[in-house]
Amino acid sequence: MSAIQPIIIALDYACKLDALNFVEQLDPTLCRLKIGKEMFTHFGPQFVTELQSKGFEIFLDLKFHDIPNTVAKAVAAASDLGVWMVNVHACGGIDMMKAASNALKNKPQNKTLLIAVTVLTSMSQQDLQAVGIQRTVEEQVLALAKLTYEAGLDGVVCSAKEVTLLREHLPKDFLLVTPGIRPVGSALDDQKRVLTPSEALKMGSNYLVIGRPITQSPKPSETLQQICLSL
Ligand code: C5P
Repeated sequence: MSAIQPIIIALDYACKLDALNFVEQLDPTLCRLKIGKEMFTHFGPQFVTELQSKGFEIFLDLKFHDIPNTVAKAVAAASDLGVWMVNVHACGGIDMMKAASNALKNKPQNKTLLIAVTVLTSMSQQDLQAVGIQRTVEEQVLALAKLTYEAGLDGVVCSAKEVTLLREHLPKDFLLVTPGIRPVGSALDDQKRVLTPSEALKMGSNYLVIGRPITQSPKPSETLQQICLSL
């Protein structure tokens, strides 16, 4: 089963049972699920397989960053696990990204998309300077997105604030995956710069990562359906 909607739900739970109770309420044709470092470290690949057996496609958000050989093997393992999407840090460099991309392209049965994180949105201008980067955040995001494209990856994760800039400079088929999405009327939580789902799509985002507006909703299934209808 393949979701036709652009929504990826961030499954940020410390308790497996809570996560499964939540997932039971969802229709896998309306969304995909994102599993990050916390849930993967707690519950491992078996949890990914369990969700896949319920019909969900998985974005394995582990943001690999290591020497090229190690990252290539890690993304190949993600492909073996059958995940829909996996990611690396673009600042691992072009050789690392090319090795990861080639590892997937060399697999005859590969269906896993590979994207990169440019600059974490938790990093400020001062944080970049402290690690020796003199460019502005926007310049660094754009430079790393171009490097990601050059390395042959499928796209990048980018903040709502960066969608327009990246869409202007990168080809139409380069995927932009965007967190920081808030449906009209929902709480901002700790997100500062947000777009509504339909705004983000209009600006050129391909996939929307949405967490708490759906995971914390008293009626997650209805909230998801409403978001789908708003697109
Ligand atoms: O609950 P909320 O919709 O804010 O969740 C967004 C998800 O996207 C979380 O898993 C968060 O870690 C992730 N994310 C983000 N901003 C980024 C990158 C990832 O909010 N720049």
